[in-house]
Amino acid sequence: MSAQLIDGKKLAQEIQTEIAQEVARLKADRGFVPGLAVILVGDNEASKIYVRNKEAACTKAGMYATQMNLPATTSEADLLEHIDRLNHDPKIHGILVQLPLPKQINSQKVLDAIAPEKDADGFHPMNMGNLLIGKQTVIPCTPLGIMKMFESAGISLEGKDAIIVGRSNIVGKPTALLLMQKNATVTIAHSKTKDLAEKVRHADIVVAAIGQAQFVKGSWIKEGAVVIDVGMNRKADDKLCGDVEFEEAAKRASFITPVPGGVGPMTITMLLWNTLQGAKRSAA
Ligand code: GUN
Repeated sequence: MSAQLIDGKKLAQEIQTEIAQEVARLKADRGFVPGLAVILVGDNEASKIYVRNKEAACTKAGMYATQMNLPATTSEADLLEHIDRLNHDPKIHGILVQLPLPKQINSQKVLDAIAPEKDADGFHPMNMGNLLIGKQTVIPCTPLGIMKMFESAGISLEGKDAIIVGRSNIVGKPTALLLMQKNATVTIAHSKTKDLAEKVRHADIVVAAIGQAQFVKGSWIKEGAVVIDVGMNRKADDKLCGDVEFEEAAKRASFITPVPGGVGPMTITMLLWNTLQGAKRSAA
């Protein structure tokens, strides 16, 4: 391996320590505690783990966290009622509804119902629209975490050719906007993209967010490229792996993020960050 690892776990811990200090100051100076509400509908095993980790990180940083576990049969109307209540709850400054939701619930309708100022994920159309036009807004956690990783590793993005493999609203699209804001030239690739290997071979920055184990081959990576792996997949042998063939990619890349311990911990940390910012806005 010649690539330098971007250690998301270590960076996440450093930022979480800073967040905890700010939370403690808010508490001491103004008797004010930032609060996050996490809603989980159904019993998707991966979602349960994500939600548990999010709540634990929040509590560890000294914030108030409340988790609501609703059955898989929950109706859309019931979920909307819970959200309305949290929108009006002064203890809550961030609301997160874990995705995916069961089929009977229209996810977009649910995201639309979260008060934009309490939207800890930055998924509300108003916040997404603000991001599109470059206005200050709540930025989705994974894309924001990725940008913090570039910054901490001292990677300049200006004029770089970036390719994002995956066009989701959660990761691909917002990451593309943030990279463009930093003057990178961005390609968004997806399942229907032609000659993907060739396109990746020309990229200085590769963000893999397609959700398929080792989909991006190590041999596609240009010498010296920066590789950000958003994937979190389980292989047949039960081991975790990303969307990139790590060992081969690491031989060519200049920087690479590991899975686990890369983007994942940064996503959770940015959720705390967004909740803290929401709390500060409400107290201003
Ligand atoms: N499901 C997968 N990633 C996310 C995320 O960042 N936020 C929410 N709410 N659900 C998710």
